[in-house]
Amino acid sequence: MPVIAHNGLYILTTQRTAYALGVNRDGLLTHAGWGPRLPFPDDYPPPAAPGAWGPFNNPAHHTPEEYPAWEDMKFIEPCLKVSHADGVRDLAPRFRSATMADDTLRLHLVDAVYDIHLTLHYRAVADHDLIERRASIHNAGRHPLRLERMFSARWHPPVGDRARLSYLHGRWFDEMHLTREPLHPGTKVLESRRLTSGHHHHPWFAVDAGDADEDRGEVWYGLLDWSGNWKLTAEVTDFFATYISIGLNDWDFAWELAPGATFETPPALAGYTPDGFGGASRALHDFVRQQVLPHPDLVHKVYYNSWEATGFDVTHEAQLALARQAAALGAEMFMIDDGWYRGRFAQSSGLGDWEPDPQKFPGGLAAFIAGVNALGMDFGLWFEPEMVNPDSQLYREHPDWVLHFPTRERRLGRDALHLNLAREDVQAYLIEAVDRVLATHNIRYVNWDMNRNVSEPGWPQAPGEPRELWVRYVYGLYHVWHTLRARHPQVIWQSCSGGGGRIDLGMLRLSDMIWISDNSGAAHRLGIQQGYSQMFPATTMQTWVTDQQTEVPFDFRFHAAMCGLLGVGANITQWSAAEMEQARHWISVYKSIRHLVQQGDLYRLTPAGMPGFTALAYLSKDRQEGVLFAFCTYIGQHEPSLTVRLRGLLPEVRYTVEGFAGVRSGTAWMSAPLQFGLYGGLGIFGSTVRRIVAVIPEEGNHV
Ligand code: GLA
Repeated sequence: MPVIAHNGLYILTTQRTAYALGVNRDGLLTHAGWGPRLPFPDDYPPPAAPGAWGPFNNPAHHTPEEYPAWEDMKFIEPCLKVSHADGVRDLAPRFRSATMADDTLRLHLVDAVYDIHLTLHYRAVADHDLIERRASIHNAGRHPLRLERMFSARWHPPVGDRARLSYLHGRWFDEMHLTREPLHPGTKVLESRRLTSGHHHHPWFAVDAGDADEDRGEVWYGLLDWSGNWKLTAEVTDFFATYISIGLNDWDFAWELAPGATFETPPALAGYTPDGFGGASRALHDFVRQQVLPHPDLVHKVYYNSWEATGFDVTHEAQLALARQAAALGAEMFMIDDGWYRGRFAQSSGLGDWEPDPQKFPGGLAAFIAGVNALGMDFGLWFEPEMVNPDSQLYREHPDWVLHFPTRERRLGRDALHLNLAREDVQAYLIEAVDRVLATHNIRYVNWDMNRNVSEPGWPQAPGEPRELWVRYVYGLYHVWHTLRARHPQVIWQSCSGGGGRIDLGMLRLSDMIWISDNSGAAHRLGIQQGYSQMFPATTMQTWVTDQQTEVPFDFRFHAAMCGLLGVGANITQWSAAEMEQARHWISVYKSIRHLVQQGDLYRLTPAGMPGFTALAYLSKDRQEGVLFAFCTYIGQHEPSLTVRLRGLLPEVRYTVEGFAGVRSGTAWMSAPLQFGLYGGLGIFGSTVRRIVAVIPEEGNHV
């Protein structure tokens, strides 16, 4: 059973891990362990009940509570902070009952004075060694309750005073740098206040005791399933407990909980692995592929996108010329980016008016799509539903539909204003407008873009508390997208927000893939892709060969893009015959290995941030085949050590590795480094793709 009650504890178990909690002798719901699954229920310790530390820190301050509310003499980061209508500003939820069903545990807590019910939800995601948590609060009283902070979970990695936090940070065009740093007493905050999850930090973490590496060591890691403002506090107390709390950002947040109403947080997920950072990533990748993505087993096509070739200058003839060229390369999906709709001749006009422009497609968009289909390709289209140009019919008709403060200037971002998706009339318009295009055209792919961050986040006609906007906007976005998905199940969706501005689990429930950065320079991309791979699998990672960083060799640009969902976004009418030939070759190689990239297990073979050399391999689940990529971007003192050891092979199966002599066991390949360095190896901007193939065993060949 994934959930049991034993000796005052609730124990959630997954295939290899366990998570325990219980009510301590002070009546507080207390964490009691998270790590490897232990053989006997008695192995789990009872929940701790620490004493006070002088008159300044009460027992509650020291107790590793599962979900502390602000009350008592607690000065740690709480998960819950409220104000009652009578001016009282604390809450003391105490355990009342538990319900268990299959893989789910629900703990019901109540306050002794106010009729407020808190429920903590736990789900053991057994196959993926994850625990999913969320919290809901119900106001059974007669007065409204104001929520001022409500996180999804607090996690307790048992790393004592040696906590090290891994997180991803960056900015537009330079996303997802992996940083590992020791945590010391105090609180580190990672967050977004941008209305999206943001380019700057990503709602993911990993914690270890400073001793884990890619292949070995205990790691506790997690994600928030949310696409808007979020906050993570990584706190080491003065008594050396490490707490990671994650959830909706409390900055400028308020929620008015009316009598009879319930509020529920988004889910947070976290897991434990003894297999290092690589093990943590592979567990998340499998979870995302099997339980999150809308089309789990989809084999993704090779895309061509015409944005960099034509920009806003979209015409039937020029697009068709590109489509012919793309088909000759082996592309399977042709898509027109921005610039296809009414009045969109520049960045400053048309956004919001989602109808094909009759000047650009005099014979109609449907006829153009038929031409693309005749070339053997599917067709896709770009939308940016959340934005509007002031120079558009939509804005002229509905100037009140954008986020704004009435007395303030409406600041433009990329010449656009931000539609208020918290409003039901805006949601209805977007559903109707996008639906009309999808219902009347043979469209198989939609790129959903989002190209600015919020300013003046006002909602003058808000029915209640205007600061609910931060949450209601995201639910509005989810509603619009879910409705369109349900109406058009044939469509594959891509999410982009100026590249990696909205990379989170919530997006992956809606979109099949993510455009991870507007920076598609192949050498820059390697680090961004490695950062992305901490969280999400390559089958969600769009990677194109574009006209950026053309100083990097053509093959290298293809190899870097082949590590994800390969596409081409360059002006291919300018490619030479030799480049076309090379591109055709690599696209056909990609088609023969894409099942490994998209569905295999990723092994990062070089440490994050290693200057100049990146290697990774994707192995099939049955370990019968794989593909190895290696890239050199810098030659200096590291050059003689451009070596990697393979990982993840079956020890006693014999393999060949393309370009290296011999048929050797998995153990042999994994114990001797492969040399990519000096003497005819990779030079600067050298790259290679090598196949790994299991060989049918021969009798009597064992030592
Ligand atoms: C953003 C995207 C680009 C392209 C343009 C179109 O910049 O990141 O890929 O779609 O918008 O306006």
